[in-house]
Amino acid sequence: MRKGVRRSGKQARKSRPTRLRAFRPNTKSGMWATGDISKTGIVFDADGTRVPHPIPYQGSKRNLSSQILSYFPNHISTLIEPFVGSGAITLAAAVRGLAENYHLNDLNAPLVELWRTIIEEPNKLAKKYETIWHEQHADRREYYCEVRNEFNHTRKPHHFLYLLARCVKASVRYNSKGEFNQSPDNRRMGAMPSTMRDHVLGASYLLRGKAKCTAEDYKTLVQRASAEDLVYMDPPYQGVSGDRDSRYLRGVPFDEFVEVLRDLNKRQISYIVSYDGRTGDKIHGRTLPHTLQLKHIELAAGRSSQETLLGRTAVTYESLYLSPALEKRLGPSRTHCKATVEQLVLLGASR
Ligand SMILES: C[S@@+](CC[C@H](N)C(=O)[O-])C[C@H]1O[C@@H](n2cnc3c(N)ncnc32)[C@H](O)[C@@H]1O
Repeated sequence: MRKGVRRSGKQARKSRPTRLRAFRPNTKSGMWATGDISKTGIVFDADGTRVPHPIPYQGSKRNLSSQILSYFPNHISTLIEPFVGSGAITLAAAVRGLAENYHLNDLNAPLVELWRTIIEEPNKLAKKYETIWHEQHADRREYYCEVRNEFNHTRKPHHFLYLLARCVKASVRYNSKGEFNQSPDNRRMGAMPSTMRDHVLGASYLLRGKAKCTAEDYKTLVQRASAEDLVYMDPPYQGVSGDRDSRYLRGVPFDEFVEVLRDLNKRQISYIVSYDGRTGDKIHGRTLPHTLQLKHIELAAGRSSQETLLGRTAVTYESLYLSPALEKRLGPSRTHCKATVEQLVLLGASR
């Protein structure tokens, strides 16, 4: 059974969005405005900036994006994201015009194809998502399984977008044969077609003509970074990193990662790494070694839902590491003052 086939006549007319909303820059505030977008669930960063976010994704850095961006240097030739996932940092940077170009990379090839389609064929993708979304209603569970089967044969981007919008915790999982095997969350219908259209068109507006999408291993990609670029790395959590991992196809072994960072240091590349962190006193994963001479900053990420459920108050902190070349590029006023404020906030929050 083919999914996402365009229907004709009355049915198709019924499902058409009432009107298209085009993203356009609000020149006064420097933010992006879109008609009555606030009603459609468009994402706001912590500092109130509107950012499109078309791909639902577990582990997205959306909530920390404005804190992370505050460590970006002024002139970036290309912002390189070797572990792009849902591209929360790339999109937040593009909204603020922080880089001339953007390189989106992920080892998950269907995800990269989805990114390419979002950027190059947004209208087509939004239309296909709309069709598929309306087709699901007779039996959502059954429909999801059919789309998942079809995706495992064809790897079509609109099927993947629908699966991510409907699956448990928006969490990508593959079996040992490389087939997507995540279950549906039957409480989720997936974003409304009009909302998805806004996010897809917004992302395309921001990145078209400035973005390159690749599906390489991060190690080969970062070898091409230059001194004017910034590399932002958010590898899979160490808890899920091994030689093969069901969520990410392949993990990132700790020792290998440290060697890659050492090489970037030798080449004086500016980079930022998000790498695990802690909840209260409990440290998640290994911290990066002092020999790399990175600046370690902790970002308060709030209380985890797990902790809240257990009635605990422990706050989760995510670790951010700045490379020596980046620290030099930012200068003492940017790193020292900022980091001190983060630490003071932490001291207050952990009391
Ligand atoms: C924690 S997620 C990144 C989330 C992202 N920062 C966001 O905001 O959505 C890690 C990503 O790394 C990708 N990945 C895993 N191993 C990789 C590798 N060796 N090279 C490149 N990407 C890899 C996974 O497919 C996954 O999308």
